[in-house]
Amino acid sequence: MSELETLEKQFLQAIDQADDLSSLETVRIDALGKKGKISSLMQGLGKMPPEDRKSFGQAVNAVKQAISSALEVQKSALEQAALNQRLETEREDITLPVRPSPVSQGRIHPISQVWEEITEIFADLGFAMAEGPHIETDENNFTKLNIPDEHPARQEHDTFYFNPKPDGSRRVLRTHTSPVQIRTMEASKPPIRIIAPGRVFRSDSDQTHTPMFHQIEGLVIDKETHMGHLKWVLEEFCKAFFEVDDVTMRFRASHFPFTEPSAEVDIGYSKVGDEVRFGGDENWMEILGCGMVHPNVLKNVGLDPDEYQGFAFGMGIDRLATLKYGMPDLRAFFAGDLNWLRHYGFSVLNVPTIAGGL
Ligand code: DAH
Repeated sequence: MSELETLEKQFLQAIDQADDLSSLETVRIDALGKKGKISSLMQGLGKMPPEDRKSFGQAVNAVKQAISSALEVQKSALEQAALNQRLETEREDITLPVRPSPVSQGRIHPISQVWEEITEIFADLGFAMAEGPHIETDENNFTKLNIPDEHPARQEHDTFYFNPKPDGSRRVLRTHTSPVQIRTMEASKPPIRIIAPGRVFRSDSDQTHTPMFHQIEGLVIDKETHMGHLKWVLEEFCKAFFEVDDVTMRFRASHFPFTEPSAEVDIGYSKVGDEVRFGGDENWMEILGCGMVHPNVLKNVGLDPDEYQGFAFGMGIDRLATLKYGMPDLRAFFAGDLNWLRHYGFSVLNVPTIAGGL
């Protein structure tokens, strides 16, 4: 075998054995690079006797061609193999179930949702937000609301009292959001138009009562505010909240120490199977207390009842949530049961707005 044939055989074998692109490149340089063996043979041609030059030149060229095309073939085979390997390792199994993202798993508690729904409606009616502390003075929680010491309403409230201070004054966990009325009237001048959602506390627990629950208070004080305004505001609220236009409401005469006259409001509903439908007068459910602010309350915060008047209302947020979304047991609201929350909770992205529908 001639030297040229041996060289060709060696290179073709090396090409065949190259198992990745970089070792193939080494072979290419070794053969056809500037200082490669085949290139050197080509360069040596000039020193040959002319009669040999042509036939040897043709032979070297043929070997060069053979090596070049073998390199091509092997290169595309190796590239294909590399691509196949990538496709194999980067393959997605589209039959696997999609893993839910944390955003889709998290839930908004129904209380938070209903709280947002209610404040959104009253904000749309032009009410501002007010707040007060959970630990309240006996004065604000009772006395200034026209509930003096000996008043029977104090017993009805199942109050959590703190130990008396040396001066005899007592603090309480507020039993309702009504003390925010007092704080607001003491801190600002009429016209006043606020709502105050928040936590309240009473020593009471059964299927429809929990020791901590939520209320929302409303207060409007101006010179000419009357009961017709109160009725209209509550009707607008109920239509928006229960999402029915022909909501039926009943104002029943009632008694609260801080309002005169006072009323309790029921809304009409019927039951179809387990479903509650609002409207009609088949059944009535009490949802709130309200009335015209008592002149004594106005006096207690330094307002002249001959100049100012207004209305107030208070409703249970938890109660409204159970009514609208149909949870049977109020205690489950605060049990921290994830299954319950997954069932009754709301999507994080489902923010209540009047425009978007509650
Ligand atoms: N504070 C009352 C309660 O907790 C609810 C209430 C009734 C609030 C009438 C008011 C009102 O503002 O006018 O039972």
